[in-house]
Amino acid sequence: MLEITNLHTSYGKTPILRDVDVRVDEGEIVGIMGKNGVGKTTLVKAVIGLLEADEGTIRFDGDEVTDDPADSRARRGIGYIPQGRDVFPELTVEENLRMGETINESNGDLQYEAVYDYFPVLEERREQDAGTMSGGQQQMLAIGRALIGNPDLLLLDEPSEGVQPSIVQDVTRDLERVNEELGTTILFVEQNLHVVQNLAERCYAIDKGTIVDELGSDRLESREAVTEYLAV
Ligand SMILES: Nc1ncnc2c1ncn2[C@@H]1O[C@H](COP(=O)(O)OP(=O)(O)OP(=O)(O)O)[C@@H](O)[C@H]1O
Ligand SMILES: [Mg+2]
Repeated sequence: MLEITNLHTSYGKTPILRDVDVRVDEGEIVGIMGKNGVGKTTLVKAVIGLLEADEGTIRFDGDEVTDDPADSRARRGIGYIPQGRDVFPELTVEENLRMGETINESNGDLQYEAVYDYFPVLEERREQDAGTMSGGQQQMLAIGRALIGNPDLLLLDEPSEGVQPSIVQDVTRDLERVNEELGTTILFVEQNLHVVQNLAERCYAIDKGTIVDELGSDRLESREAVTEYLAV
């Protein structure tokens, strides 16, 4: 479904990503883990099209999208949840959700019912300003907004950040349900051990802008194997 080959990106003249190869098959939940500043956000932004590739290709659903703008990738069916969530604090929960309607134009079914089923708090608080909600609730809103247009691929940049530990577990379970029930393919970047171990079926490790390892389900069960690539 997503195939990144030999990707290089930079900020101005500073190279950040080099030689990145990542592949995600339809229906998978794939993680990319790495410490602070190793290039996780840069990689996610390159996939959604907020950053240009200097070299390499990105293919989505069989087509090359390397030079397509972000909005066109979104309409093709890539949902994106940025680091720090980016909900509109002055808009109500429902107004925020409506912002997600333009994602994935090929899919006419808006997923309000499913989103309210996964995250009942969003229905309870639909009239409330998004900025008044907790970090965890705002993360649920950001995920809900990305799901409204029923994307085929969901990209999440550190969904656990700023979310209290007990709620991180809820969000992890909700994402698993989304994957199982809506069939949404998921690619997330994280440095939270719990999320990496519980959510990823397979996980790449990134360090200094390049992929340095790939862990299958066996090695993901080992705390030592995983923490090697996370901040300690
Ligand atoms: N807009 C920018 N201009 C220049 N350099 C940047 C910019 N954004 C990030 N960088 C640099 O690029 C490198 C990778 O940053 P990136 O944000 O991708 O890391 P990250 O893995 O997402 O980190 P974190 O875990 O803190 O979110 C870092 O060295 C960072 O300082
Ligand atoms: Mg980041």
